[in-house]
Amino acid sequence: MRDMGTIRNIVILTGAGISAESGIDTFRAEGGLWEQHRIEDVATPEAFERDPDLVLRFYDMRRESIQTKEPNAAHLALARLDREWAGELLIVTQNVDDLHERAGAQRVLHMHGEHLNAWCTDCDARSRWTGPLKQRPACPGCGARALRPDVVWFGEMPYGMDKIYSALRTADLFVSIGTSGAVYPAAGFVRDARELGAATLELNLERSQGSGWFDESRLGQASELVPAWVDELLAPR
Ligand code: OAD
Repeated sequence: MRDMGTIRNIVILTGAGISAESGIDTFRAEGGLWEQHRIEDVATPEAFERDPDLVLRFYDMRRESIQTKEPNAAHLALARLDREWAGELLIVTQNVDDLHERAGAQRVLHMHGEHLNAWCTDCDARSRWTGPLKQRPACPGCGARALRPDVVWFGEMPYGMDKIYSALRTADLFVSIGTSGAVYPAAGFVRDARELGAATLELNLERSQGSGWFDESRLGQASELVPAWVDELLAPR
């Protein structure tokens, strides 16, 4: 692993595992979200066309549920890193919860969208949305009843890819936290980062699918691994 003293620019990728200890189900664990619901039924544009009520109900439940959860020690540690790190930092999250922000992090990019946003497919505006969508409320901007959850479904383009790749190009360190490495393009960031010269570190409960691409893997709970890693990085040297 590269000498910590030479690291200036960092890209961090987070996934459902960082929010697991806050009580939000991951997707691919036994009994996880994709065992309880079929992706084809709730997380594709075709599903929304076929049965919008079902899809809106599913996201209404999730939107309501995340608002009862609290950031854990891993989110808080990343927020501290964001405050104290003088170099470039980008926290790319696949999570649609707002726990990074509620912990205080600012340099966050939600590549799979956000539960607490509604997207008007009529006027294209995004509005912060904490309530349900299933009664088809009017868009606050244009009044159309065309709001959908602002989450990226399978078959749709993730957000912010230009910004992510430009951060990867100058990154000295790429860190992946709590993600299984099952979903592209996020799963490919480690290879890209490596090829672009960054050191790569994985912090996860178990080895991810792309584990072999990391210089180092630390296995355990995010609430322990992440604060310890942030302490290391911010320690005076
Ligand atoms: P997954 O459910 O696929 O993977 C979660 C990962 O977190 C697994 O590797 C677990 O071992 C790990 N994990 C669980 N608890 C942990 C803990 N306490 N500490 C550290 N690690 C822990 O979730 P993602 O990789 O985030 O996309 O899934 C990626 C995408 O697939 C999601 O953004 C979502 C989903 O389909 C869309 O909906 C577009």
